[in-house]
Amino acid sequence: MNPDTTLRADADWWRDAVFYQVYIRSFADGNGDGVGDLAGIRSRLPYLADLGVDALWITPFYPSPMADHGYDVADPRDVEPVFGDLAEFDALLAEAHALGIRVTVDLVPNHSSDARDWFQAALAAGPGSPERGRYLFRDGRGADGSEPPNNWPSVFGGPAWSRVPDGQWYLHIFAPEQPDLDFTHADVLADLEETMRFWLDRGVDGFRIDVAHGMAKPEGLPDMVPMEDTGLLADHGPGDHRFDQDEVHAVHRRIRRVLDQYPGTMAVGEVWVSDDDRLARYLRPDELQLAFNFKLLTAEWSTEDLRDAVVHSLASVSGTPAPACWVLSNHDRPRHVTRYGGGETGLQRARAAALFQLALPGAAYVYNGDELGMPNVDDLPEEVLQDPVWERSGHTERGRDACRVPMPWSGEEPSYGFSSSPETWLPMPADWAALTVEAQAADPSSIQSLYRKALRLRSSSPAFAGEELQWLPAPEDCLAFRRPGGLVCLLNLSHAPVPLPEGPVLLASADVSAGQVPVDAAVWLQG
Ligand code: BGC
Repeated sequence: MNPDTTLRADADWWRDAVFYQVYIRSFADGNGDGVGDLAGIRSRLPYLADLGVDALWITPFYPSPMADHGYDVADPRDVEPVFGDLAEFDALLAEAHALGIRVTVDLVPNHSSDARDWFQAALAAGPGSPERGRYLFRDGRGADGSEPPNNWPSVFGGPAWSRVPDGQWYLHIFAPEQPDLDFTHADVLADLEETMRFWLDRGVDGFRIDVAHGMAKPEGLPDMVPMEDTGLLADHGPGDHRFDQDEVHAVHRRIRRVLDQYPGTMAVGEVWVSDDDRLARYLRPDELQLAFNFKLLTAEWSTEDLRDAVVHSLASVSGTPAPACWVLSNHDRPRHVTRYGGGETGLQRARAAALFQLALPGAAYVYNGDELGMPNVDDLPEEVLQDPVWERSGHTERGRDACRVPMPWSGEEPSYGFSSSPETWLPMPADWAALTVEAQAADPSSIQSLYRKALRLRSSSPAFAGEELQWLPAPEDCLAFRRPGGLVCLLNLSHAPVPLPEGPVLLASADVSAGQVPVDAAVWLQG
């Protein structure tokens, strides 16, 4: 059957889809400038189809001065020349669809780039002008207005306000180059809808919504309770007025109304809200289809953390139409190989975590390089660091570059087939020859081969049917659960091997042929 026809027929495809996050700068470079691009993605589509992913999430590729590597969007309805052009995007979309892969793109509604025409017009027009009304310009406090209008901190460090030459201040929850938009202004929502339709009309299958718990700010922009900085994009909970305001749900309802006009499309929200009931509100029938589960992304390698992540994620979707949505790593957080201890231990745990994640009911996101067991590159020289966090924190936080190093594809030395140039936007380690896609494809015991087998089974075996999860009794420091279709997953987090449960083995992250599940291993069985 023509995959295009199949794609359109299945409106709920996203409920159990495996999405592959392409951090565009770091996936594949098609034009030899050392920066990943659309042509690079296009050339690697056969790899992604063979790996077995259902859909892509491509991080922002829109015109941008790159103050936050594309999350500062100067024009949401075009392509940044570094990444290609609209024709290249259309070709990528058509080829992905022909291979049965859906394509979702990033939507960055909360803020624009300071280079966007709107912001430039706001600067030129001056205080009190309608142009300033699309952003959050305010007078400062103190006798001469030299104090910021409130005490909100920027997520990237420093105050969330910058002053312009005429004395007013504007709000930026992220970098100063990312002014927050005012969603009470009709133009802002209308523009967001126009952007959505622009990409939906081209044929995209959905969106990942950046800072989906932002967008609404409380009336009067009151001070917030000063709180300790718990790290980038951490959920600071109630009292943090920058996020999770009730009015944000009206924006999500508008977004959903547009999506509903394009059957088979969806949105997943980046919602850093840890309270289960608050998170559930974003998943009401007329809001988002999916919200990332960040408890798994931040969990340490422990039974308590991992079980807690699963229990809370399932609790937050129960009572909503949404399935859970699992993620182990992304471009904002340390890669899980490193989070789990790094080295051989980190890799074994990442193999087991892959089976754990992919056995859970709902949708799953795989970050590019997860399937290679890529670690963080924590020893990047200071002079190459690019994340705005590095500068904004006064060189106390290195930021997110360590988890954004380009992917190695083939060969023995940098850039390992990522680019035709040996120079890449972040340097690649000298010892990654064994990590490449090519090297791992030839090795049936590699983590890449494990992912390929896991994704095949997940999409073909009836064992994965049903969205419920039943916890099973398990040896101490192990987790075990069963899915209605019969899949049993056992994860051994203890310090000794445990007996292999009965039943045919579907897949294991380590050798279970001796009738035992090794330390830091997981197994799938037909129960
Ligand atoms: C994205 C980050 C980005 C921030 C500001 C996030 O949540 O994932 O990479 O820096 O939004 O747009």
